[in-house]
Amino acid sequence: MNILILNGSPAGDSSITLQTMLYIEKFFPEHRYELLNVGQKIKALEKDFSPAGRMLEEAELIVFCYPVYTFLVPSQLHRFLELMKERGPDLTGKFATQISTSKHFYDTTAHEFIRENCADLHLACLRGLSADMEDLLKKKGRKEALDFFRHVLWAAEHGLSEDIPATAHRTGPLSKATVPESGREPSPQGTIALVADLEEGNEALDAMVRRFMKVSPYAVRLINLRDFPFSGGCLGCFHCAADGTCIYKDGFDCFLRENIQETSATVYAFSIRDHSMGSRFKMFDDRQFCNGHRTVTMGKPVGYLIDGDLSAEANLRQLIEARAQVGGNYLTRIAGNEADADREIDALAAELEYAVSNGYQQPANFYGVGGMKIFRDLIYTMQGMMKEDHRFYKEHGFYDFPQKRKGTILGMYLVGAMMNSEKLSRKLGANMTKGMLMPYRKVIEKAKPEKMNAS
Ligand SMILES: Cc1cc2nc3c(=O)[nH]c(=O)nc-3n(C[C@H](O)[C@H](O)[C@H](O)COP(=O)(O)O)c2cc1C
Repeated sequence: MNILILNGSPAGDSSITLQTMLYIEKFFPEHRYELLNVGQKIKALEKDFSPAGRMLEEAELIVFCYPVYTFLVPSQLHRFLELMKERGPDLTGKFATQISTSKHFYDTTAHEFIRENCADLHLACLRGLSADMEDLLKKKGRKEALDFFRHVLWAAEHGLSEDIPATAHRTGPLSKATVPESGREPSPQGTIALVADLEEGNEALDAMVRRFMKVSPYAVRLINLRDFPFSGGCLGCFHCAADGTCIYKDGFDCFLRENIQETSATVYAFSIRDHSMGSRFKMFDDRQFCNGHRTVTMGKPVGYLIDGDLSAEANLRQLIEARAQVGGNYLTRIAGNEADADREIDALAAELEYAVSNGYQQPANFYGVGGMKIFRDLIYTMQGMMKEDHRFYKEHGFYDFPQKRKGTILGMYLVGAMMNSEKLSRKLGANMTKGMLMPYRKVIEKAKPEKMNAS
């Protein structure tokens, strides 16, 4: 087979992910492999896509090889996908698969994103490999890589692609937001950063943004990502790991800290493109890696203005919720324009006002708790290099390792020992649940409703 490797890592030949593919190549020499460093060469490919077009045309199997970057793929690969759709050849019926490396933090949303885009391109998608970045260094990881590729070749031979069932799309037009003549008097109790990917001529999103600015309870600082002079997407160079400064000199790190992080709430606005927020917005997301894994806006509510068929985008909705969860941000509302844009936008404004004025927060769910456990373990191991992250995690008590809960562990040993004895176990019986409930009962007994506002 002619196999084309699309290397989405901005690290190019030095990509860790690519090493897995190079390892695989050695064991399957009967195929012809071509490599295109799309992550590193994206600017050249934007100017001239023809070399990529030729390679895509010749390929029988396309391998998306990439590091997971902020829940998805690097912005450079996002951009390449846009170019593939705009300028690439017809790929109908060719096979595609994916190899990623990561710490398994939302590798699931990244893989689904690639699958959805393969479906758009009429590629026959074969099950991918999501490896930990160190897997290739272990015998088990190497075996899994080879087993994966053997399965890909077998599935291709038997035509067993993983086609995504078509989602029912809305048939009518989207609702257009209207902009009231006069707006609300903004309360001085807060400010909102409205970060938008607002392309010229995007009337639908423009109307949503303008209505929100009129109905917002607080003054809005509009930041159009189209106006920011980004030098490029995150390079994954880890220059920022020690002190938080980015290798690019375009000033984004300072801009982010001074103009976005300082407000009382953040609203993100974009039109759905290629099952995500589009490559420009993704560049903004990836570049926030200058904050490392620090949840610097923890406690601050977020909201969204989204133009497009959001109900058909389960992966994107999951990503949005997960993102807020991991950041410790209360997700107030995703205001869309599928049904009644005005009502949605007004509801978002009301929810934001409630969240900011009441300091409303919610406990993290699985997305937040699970995600933070991965970060906790990662930063603890990498503390020597990720100095800023380590300091932040110590300061905020994020190192909540279960092995530190010596009292609970000992207590459980005691209960276990008692349960080993039939006599004691029988005696414990119903008292067990009573005992477990005791501390909760105490909380209720001690509760003083008259002090609710003070606590
Ligand atoms: C900007 C950036 C974002 C990242 N986001 C994630 C992520 O969301 N989930 C994850 O598990 N790892 C994440 N990583 C870690 C990379 O996926 C991991 O280091 C990968 O193995 C790098 O592969 P490469 O050398 O091929 O680029 C991120 C790294 C960078 C630099």
